[in-house]
Formats: sequence, structure tokens, C-alpha cells
Amino acid sequence: MKVVRTAAELRTDGSTGLVPTMGGFHEGHLSLFRAARAENDTVVASLFVNPAQFAPGEDLDRYPRDEERDAALAEENGVDLLFVPAAEDIYPDGFQTWVDVEELGSILEGEHRPGHFRGVATVCLKLFNLVRPDRAYFGQKDAQQVAVIKRMVRDLAVPVEIRVCPTVRDDDGLALSSRNAYLSPEEREKALALPRALAANDRSALDGLAVDYFEPADFEPRVLAAAVRVGSTRLIDNVVLEGETA
Ligand code: PAF
Repeated sequence: MKVVRTAAELRTDGSTGLVPTMGGFHEGHLSLFRAARAENDTVVASLFVNPAQFAPGEDLDRYPRDEERDAALAEENGVDLLFVPAAEDIYPDGFQTWVDVEELGSILEGEHRPGHFRGVATVCLKLFNLVRPDRAYFGQKDAQQVAVIKRMVRDLAVPVEIRVCPTVRDDDGLALSSRNAYLSPEEREKALALPRALAANDRSALDGLAVDYFEPADFEPRVLAAAVRVGSTRLIDNVVLEGETA
């Protein structure tokens, strides 16, 4: 595997799969790398903690960063090129062009994290333009992110196929997230109410936690989506509603 830091070094052969990431790799990311490996000649993973999708006061500064560990895991799981761009290459001096997926980007997560999906959509389009993948891989865990990216790809006729992989959970049911690393053992115990409440479609299982939302969302597939805060950690999760497949 090669680590490349500039777009000029991004030479790919045959079909290309891109897994956009912000690092802090866990089994969820690794499942995306393996899915991309199975379907493409070249697998590119991008590693960029995108400042534009964090609001002031969010966890940009404490977001897990360990490039060496991430590179080793990417290599073991079939990545050919780890693209680690510099912030100034993604957002060059004078940057002022943004992608705003208006409605889908302003509900649920978008309501609680204004500007978040504008940052996500913009960085994804930029990465698609730099890497020019045939397919890009995202996790169902971020169901709204998937909906926003799919909408952008349709609206702007971006030539990439969006592939979605199932949420990966720990044995106790907690969906894997880079942010789980922030949880103390007691907080982690409390966080288990989130997958339980979703699985039982029972909001009362979240009593005692700060709930940002717990509601069905008309994504494809339709999901029951929730976001809670446990201490200073904000967690999101969703389950696909009965009768539909991810
Ligand atoms: O899901 C993520 O890690 C990020 O939102 C993404 C898609 C890499 C864009 O920065």
C-alpha cells in the first residue's frame, strides 16, 4: 500500500473504489475496505478529518488521529492507496464553493448540526473529483449521510456509484463509531440503551439520556434514526424499518 499526500500521485489502474474516511479505523471501516476490494481493481481510502463538517465547539480537536495505526489497518484490509490530503489542497486559499443538499441536509442531524452536511457533501464531491472512483463506499450507520450523498450524486450527475454496507456492531449491540473511544466504561453501559431502544422501537428506553431525536426517516431504505448525548459524546444510530433491506 502506498500513502499519497497529493492528488498528482493518485494513479489508479482499472476500476477504482473509494472509501472516504476521517480515520480512527474500526471494523466498520474495515468492512468498507473489504467490500471495495471485492469489487474493484484499485482501492483508495481517503483519510481527512474534514474541518468543514464540524461546528465550532464540536469534537474536531479531539477526533482520533493515528495515521500509523490507520495505515497498517488499511493495508491489512486491501487498500492500495491511502490518500492523506493536506487541508490546503482540499480547501485552497480563497475557497468559496459549497454543495448544499437543502432539504435532506437540514433535517435530523442537519437540524442539530447546522452546516454539517454542507461540509460532508462538499468534501465528498471534492474527493470524487480528485480520485474519480467508479464506486464509493459508505456505512448504513450514517444513513442520512448516505441519503445526502446519493441525492447530490443524482442532482449533479456525478459519475460514481454509491455502495452502502451494513452497520457493524459490537457484541453488546453498540454500533461501531470512532466516537465510541470517548466513552468511559460507565458511559458505554448507558450508551447501550441506544441500540436497544431502536431495536424495540421504544423511545422510553432512552429515558435519562439527552435525546436529540428518535424518529422514522424516509431515506432509502426507510429507517428509525436516533441521536443521543452520553456525557460529552454524541452518538447516532439507526435501524432499517421492517420489510426493507439496507
Ligand atoms: O463518514 C465520514 O467519516 C465522513 O463524514 C466522510 C464521509 C469521510 C466525509 O468527511
